[in-house]
Amino acid sequence: MKFTTLSGIAVSAVLAGAIGFTALAYAADADVIAARRGLMKANGTAAKAIGGMLDGSAKFDAATAGDGAKAMVAAGHGFGAEFDKNFPDSTMTGDTKASPDIWKNKDDFKKRAMALEADATAAVAAAAKGEGDFKAAAGKVFGNCKGCHEKYRLK
Ligand code: HEC
Repeated sequence: MKFTTLSGIAVSAVLAGAIGFTALAYAADADVIAARRGLMKANGTAAKAIGGMLDGSAKFDAATAGDGAKAMVAAGHGFGAEFDKNFPDSTMTGDTKASPDIWKNKDDFKKRAMALEADATAAVAAAAKGEGDFKAAAGKVFGNCKGCHEKYRLK
């Protein structure tokens, strides 16, 4: 009798542990998704500021331009070089617009993110040189957004 009760307790403990672990895993996945979406949100905010300078609705400002391009570098870096950290398999589902195709074409996806990082890095340097240089470099940066979203972002 005593033995049965004890093993019952042991089983409950193991089960509670397993459930606790699952809850933790979900919380961690939600954090990872929120973090990568945060990188893209900052990227989107930067794109608005920079887009205004490109279409002439906002005045060129070297500091704003440089900071915006830096946010784009960070997004490109997070989605490419740090892919494994920001896109573990377990984050394919959840509160995310990331297409499952990302995980089928990891190399293509990372290549696109690295291209964003490289083009945005050039734009950071160009921002320090002046308006003309920055506009040319920033125009190139924007080419990366649409191509990747069409293939890898769910509507
Ligand atoms: C390498 C692919 C890739 C590139 C390049 C890329 N994006 Fe994204 N973007 C994504 C993916 C994937 C998501 C969805 C992420 C998620 O929901 O987990 C996303 C989401 C977003 C979001 C929504 C963020 C949110 O959750 O609120 C914005 C805004 C955005 N991107 C802006 C941009 C801009 C601006 C550029 C270009 C400067 C860009 N992206 C370039 C892949 C990319």
